[in-house]
Amino acid sequence: IIWCIIVGKKWLLIFISELHLSHGTEVSVNNTENKLCLYANLMVNFSVAYEVGVNKSETVILVLPENVTTEGSACDNTTSTLKLSFGDGHSWTVDFTKNNKTYQVDTIVFSYNLNDSSVFPNSTSKETKSVTVKSIITNVSVDTYYSCKSADVRTVESVIQTLYDVALQAFVINGSKSDTDTICSADMPSTTVAPTTTVTTTAAPTSTPTLPTPTTGKYSIATDVNSTACLMATFGLQIGYKQGDKEETINLVPNMTEVGGACRSNSSDLKLTSDTITIMFTFSNDGKKFQLHALNVTVIPATGAPVVAVNTNMSIWAAAVGSSYMCNKEQTLNVTDTLTLYTFELRVQPFEVNKGEFATAHECSLDDTSILIPIIVGAALAGLILIVVIAYVIGRRKTYVGYQTL
Ligand SMILES: *[C@@H]1O[C@H](CO)[C@@H](O)[C@H](O)[C@H]1NC(C)=O
Ligand SMILES: *[C@@H]1O[C@H](CO)[C@@H](O)[C@H](O)[C@H]1NC(C)=O
Ligand SMILES: *[C@@H]1O[C@H](CO)[C@@H](O)[C@H](O)[C@H]1NC(C)=O
Ligand SMILES: *[C@@H]1O[C@H](CO)[C@@H](O)[C@H](O)[C@H]1NC(C)=O
Ligand SMILES: *[C@@H]1O[C@H](CO)[C@@H](O)[C@H](O)[C@H]1NC(C)=O
Ligand SMILES: *[C@@H]1O[C@H](CO)[C@@H](O)[C@H](O)[C@H]1NC(C)=O
Ligand SMILES: *[C@@H]1O[C@H](CO)[C@@H](O)[C@H](O)[C@H]1NC(C)=O
Ligand SMILES: *[C@@H]1O[C@H](CO)[C@@H](O)[C@H](O)[C@H]1NC(C)=O
Ligand SMILES: *[C@@H]1O[C@H](CO)[C@@H](O)[C@H](O)[C@H]1NC(C)=O
Ligand SMILES: *[C@@H]1O[C@H](CO)[C@@H](O)[C@H](O)[C@H]1NC(C)=O
Ligand SMILES: *[C@@H]1O[C@H](CO)[C@@H](O)[C@H](O)[C@H]1NC(C)=O
Ligand SMILES: *[C@@H]1O[C@H](CO)[C@@H](O)[C@H](O)[C@H]1NC(C)=O
Repeated sequence: IIWCIIVGKKWLLIFISELHLSHGTEVSVNNTENKLCLYANLMVNFSVAYEVGVNKSETVILVLPENVTTEGSACDNTTSTLKLSFGDGHSWTVDFTKNNKTYQVDTIVFSYNLNDSSVFPNSTSKETKSVTVKSIITNVSVDTYYSCKSADVRTVESVIQTLYDVALQAFVINGSKSDTDTICSADMPSTTVAPTTTVTTTAAPTSTPTLPTPTTGKYSIATDVNSTACLMATFGLQIGYKQGDKEETINLVPNMTEVGGACRSNSSDLKLTSDTITIMFTFSNDGKKFQLHALNVTVIPATGAPVVAVNTNMSIWAAAVGSSYMCNKEQTLNVTDTLTLYTFELRVQPFEVNKGEFATAHECSLDDTSILIPIIVGAALAGLILIVVIAYVIGRRKTYVGYQTL
């Protein structure tokens, strides 16, 4: 019955998605043997800003039409190109590469002809311009199609590209489309996590999908100019905050961030300041263990009042003094009801740094459970085998003793 429900649901979903997708741009590309090798059914909107005079610009919305040509598309064993040309000299080109088990989109290049006055009236420039979006679709299993209904919005220079309702298969095997899909993370139902502690680690990012993963920054502070670091930290930081009813997210940009702070014997501060974010991490130690004990975050949004969150009652990122704390996975940290931190590739050592290098790391709990679970299962199995062996030996001995008395 469960099998029937699952299969039925899947077919229903496929049916609905095909019904739904029929409005998009649908194209097929054949290889040199005239077999289908690339298939796409998707929608793309472009918002393009262009100059119409000195200090004056206009913005137009362009929709990838249903009527496109695929000239210039090609399929090879490990690389493929989908080139869709439309209107008067505009094109949208997607480059794919494949390794053994997965394929991905490396780049998407959008070229637009500003000389097309039906689309860009009064443009001062008559050139054809191009913008490139990188690594937008990754890790698609070979012989599956990539499916993503959610909108993926990318801004490059003066173009905002919105890609949505996508069904896409490159490296089609034997000329027949796959009916298995690889669903994008934005379409996955968000996982709920048990609220047992203030720290959770999630495998898939559940934060706003439109914002890219923040760049990992390396920060260190020293007691004076001549000494090596006394505190070191590396992480990528994303902040989610509420402004009224709206949820916003913002990334800390490491190379636009000023580093400050202080090292003392039982407390250390790391203060990071950018034009939109000020964050102070306060670490404490009791001689044996250190922990992150307080956070003071100020976010200055583009509009509206600054959002301030202070929490001085935390005890996370704990490890022995002289070691470092590490968590490679995304970590979610509720600072207050209105502000949440997301950290990526985290490693911190707030005390007793030697020679500017991290000491051995204590890994975050969920990083180790992945190792712990097999160990527990293995130990349980070993125990079971031991019990069986002992029972067998005892059983044998008893019967042996029995024969002896006869
Ligand atoms: C592409 O290949 C398919 C079979 O894989 C074939 O049915 C179709 O006619 C081909 N298209 C063109 C334009 O040759
Ligand atoms: C794309 O553009 C069309 C037409 O302007 C609009 O109806 C649609 O809502 C847009 N979609 C997205 C995701 O922006
Ligand atoms: C254009 O903008 C620049 C700087 O924003 C300003 O210096 C210049 O005077 C402006 N030119 C005109 C024609 O408004
Ligand atoms: C499709 O595009 C081609 C060339 O761009 C054009 O000749 C043709 O009339 C278009 N067809 C439709 C239905 O718009
Ligand atoms: C592609 O693969 C086929 C068969 O697997 C092989 O015959 C052909 O030489 C390959 N082509 C390239 C360019 O590697
Ligand atoms: C892919 O497979 C080939 C041989 O089948 C192997 O030599 C190569 O290392 C594999 N590459 C990856 C990235 O697994
Ligand atoms: C722009 O288009 C017009 C005709 O529509 C053409 O005569 C002119 O050469 C084009 N200019 C450029 C720079 O391509
Ligand atoms: C832009 O072009 C339109 C006609 O397409 C014209 O009515 C308008 O005056 C032009 N605007 C500028 C600023 O040149
Ligand atoms: C963090 O806050 C969100 C929303 O306020 C809540 O859904 C989530 O359970 C909280 N996580 C923890 C670990 O407290
Ligand atoms: C740093 O070292 C230089 C030369 O080694 C010395 O002149 C200077 O006083 C030192 N500064 C501090 C703050 O120790
Ligand atoms: C900051 O880093 C980004 C990439 O992370 C780079 O594109 C940009 O040029 C850098 N800016 C400066 C001022 O170094
Ligand atoms: C938080 O930091 C701001 C300045 O960044 C400071 O004015 C404020 O007093 C701090 N709050 C606490 C509770 O430390």
